[in-house]
Amino acid sequence: MSGRTAVLSGVGGWLPPRLVTNDDLAAQLDTSDEWITSRTGIRQRFVVTPGLSTSGLAVEAGRRALASAGTASVDLLVLATTTPDHPCPATAPEVAAALGLGEIPAFDVGAVCTGFLYALASAASMISAGVAGSALVIGADTFSTILDPGDRTTRAIFGDGAGAVVLRAGTAREPGAVLGFDLGSDGSQADLITVPGGGSEHRSNGLPDAEGRFFRMQGRSVFRNAVTRMSESCRALTQRVGWPVESVDRVVAHQANSRILAAVGSELGLPQDRLVVNLDRVGNTVAASIPLALTDAVHSGEMAPGDRVLLCAFGGGLTWGAAALELPRLSAEPLPAPKP
Ligand code: COA
Repeated sequence: MSGRTAVLSGVGGWLPPRLVTNDDLAAQLDTSDEWITSRTGIRQRFVVTPGLSTSGLAVEAGRRALASAGTASVDLLVLATTTPDHPCPATAPEVAAALGLGEIPAFDVGAVCTGFLYALASAASMISAGVAGSALVIGADTFSTILDPGDRTTRAIFGDGAGAVVLRAGTAREPGAVLGFDLGSDGSQADLITVPGGGSEHRSNGLPDAEGRFFRMQGRSVFRNAVTRMSESCRALTQRVGWPVESVDRVVAHQANSRILAAVGSELGLPQDRLVVNLDRVGNTVAASIPLALTDAVHSGEMAPGDRVLLCAFGGGLTWGAAALELPRLSAEPLPAPKP
C-alpha cells in the first residue's frame, strides 16, 4: 500500500462475567479437563448471562479501544459478528449509537472466525480510499447462544467476548500502518462450519425456525484446513509486503486450538514463542479472537513497539486471511476477567 494508509491507534477487549471452567463442563457432559486441555489447550471460557448480548460486549470493547486511542469519535464503525443481536437490522448501528458516535456509517460483516480480518480490511480500505478518516473495528460474538447444550465438542471450544481496534488515516511509513492483507474463501466447503437453519434457504423450504438452529462443525476437517489456509495466507502476505518470514516477530492467529497454533508456527518455520496464545483463558471467541489476543499481548508487554506482526485467521465459509503491520506504541487496559 502507498499514499494514504490506515494506522492502528488503539486496542481494547471485553469479556462477559460468567466463567465456565473445563470442570464445569465435565459436570454436565461426557468430557474431562484432561481431554479438553490436551486436545485444545483451553482451560476456561466466559459466557453471557441473561440480558447480555453481542452488542453489550461490543460496546464495552469499543469504549476501551477508543480510550486506548485517546479519542471519543470516529467516522466509521465496522462490526464483525456471526451472532448479531437480531437477524435484522445489523447490530453495528446500535453499537455506534450506544457509544455516542453520532450518525456515522456502521455495518456488520459476517465471516465467522475470519470476520475481524474482513472487517479490518473493509475499514482500512475505506480509510485508504478517503471515505473515512478513522474507524472503530469490533469483533464480537456470543456463540454460547447458538451452541447445542449437548454437544461436548463445540461447548469445549467456544467462549463469548469482544475485541476492538481503532484505525486512523496516516502513511505507510508510520508505526502501526496496516501494510497489506491476504483474504480468501472457498464456499464449496460451507458445510464444515454451519448453522443450517434459520435462514432463507431453510424458511423457503417451509421448515420450522427451531430446526437446525444450533452451530455444527466438522472438527477434524476444520483443523486440517485451518492449518493449511492460515500458513499459506501468512506466507503469501509476507511475500507481498517484502518481509522474510523469519523476520516476523509475532503472529496473532485466530485462537482456535493450541495444536492449530503450534502447527501454523511449524509450517512457517517460526519458533513457537512467536505465536501469541491466550485461548487457555478465553477459548475460541470467534470474531473477537484476534483483537482479544492483541489486547492481551499489548497489555502484558509481550509485544513491543516496532515488532513485525502478522494477524491471521481461518473460519466458516470457508474463509481465511492475514494482515501485516508494525506495532506502534499502544496502551491497553487489562481484560476484565480473573486469570486462573
Ligand atoms: N470431550 C471428550 N471427548 C470428545 C470431546 C470432548 N469435549 N469432543 C470430542 N470428543 C471425542 C469425539 O467424540 C471422538 O470420539 P470417538 O473417537 O469415540 O468418535 C474423539 O473425541 C476424537 O474426535 P476428533 O474430532 O477426531 O478429535 P480431535 O483430536 O480432532 O479434536 C477438536 C477435536 C474439535 C478439538 C479438533 O478437531 C479441533 O480443534 N478442530 C478445529 C476446531 C476449530 O478450531 N473450530 C473453529 C474453527 S474457526
